[in-house]
Amino acid sequence: MTTDSHTTHDADEDLRNRDIRIWVNGALLHRDEAKVSVYDSGFLLGDGMWEGMRLYNGTWAFFDEHMDRFFASCKTVSLDVGMDRAGILDALTRTAAANDMHSEVHCRLMLTRGVKVKPFQHPSLSRTGPTLVIIMEHSTPVDSLQSAGIRLATVPQVRGLPMSQDPKLNSHSKLNCVIACLQAEEAGADEGLMLDPHGFVNTTNACNFFIVRQGEVWTSTGDYCMKGVTRQKVIDLCRANGIPVFEKNFSLYEVHGADEAFLTGTFGAQTPVASVDGKPVGNGKRPVTERIRKLYKNLIEETTGRPD
Ligand SMILES: Cc1ncc(COP(=O)(O)O)c(C=O)c1O
Repeated sequence: MTTDSHTTHDADEDLRNRDIRIWVNGALLHRDEAKVSVYDSGFLLGDGMWEGMRLYNGTWAFFDEHMDRFFASCKTVSLDVGMDRAGILDALTRTAAANDMHSEVHCRLMLTRGVKVKPFQHPSLSRTGPTLVIIMEHSTPVDSLQSAGIRLATVPQVRGLPMSQDPKLNSHSKLNCVIACLQAEEAGADEGLMLDPHGFVNTTNACNFFIVRQGEVWTSTGDYCMKGVTRQKVIDLCRANGIPVFEKNFSLYEVHGADEAFLTGTFGAQTPVASVDGKPVGNGKRPVTERIRKLYKNLIEETTGRPD
């Protein structure tokens, strides 16, 4: 990476993260001690599901929406969570308490099919129940990303069809996205803009993608991408606040001619896009993105309480 490169997950360095405790199947272990077996299905095959969530003022933002997606994904691949969503909340609460964490916290909740008796693919080889790991970090996205914006490059790696590996599944196996990100880096950009199998603009390798054209907000149809919780919140906020919003097919032609573009994800909320394929987005002014960002911040405060 060059020195001016960014990722959408850039956070201010926080030394407290050096000593965090991580949940591994009920044990809360120092990060240096937190380990899973080399026979774990997640390590061997990427056979697991995960969620990224944020804690604000002691409340997990949009917990129900995250759990809806998590449990639906696990059910699709016959992965028995082994607990209900109250059990997950309890594990999250204990992990936050062990780390004295209350706000500006990001968590990665990961569930795999568990430890296998042999290093092969068949799911029946995982016999001892799932592995649940919760990594929580103090996490404040860097301010500079809001002014600088992210640089995207359209990459050759496309989104998968639902009947191969449905891109709606937030699986541990993210190789399709990782390859896209590598291709973006090789093109001198921060993140990859991925097309769907028909050539329409779909999403980036780690976030959902929006453009603004003449006051209208456009995003892909939602096929071939992750059903982002933040994506849906942005669509709902636009609808509730009289901002025209459309889920539709569009091509790079409309992206390169857009007035604004931004990404959405739990980590960074809305991240402006500075350029796509080396072409600057619009004239650098971002009134609609900024309005949506404020609306989203208010929504977070309404649902999790005002900052202490
Ligand atoms: C490929 C991809 N797209 C989009 C998102 C954003 O989803 P959310 O808004 O639910 O964080 C994620 C987050 O996990 C992702 O991995």
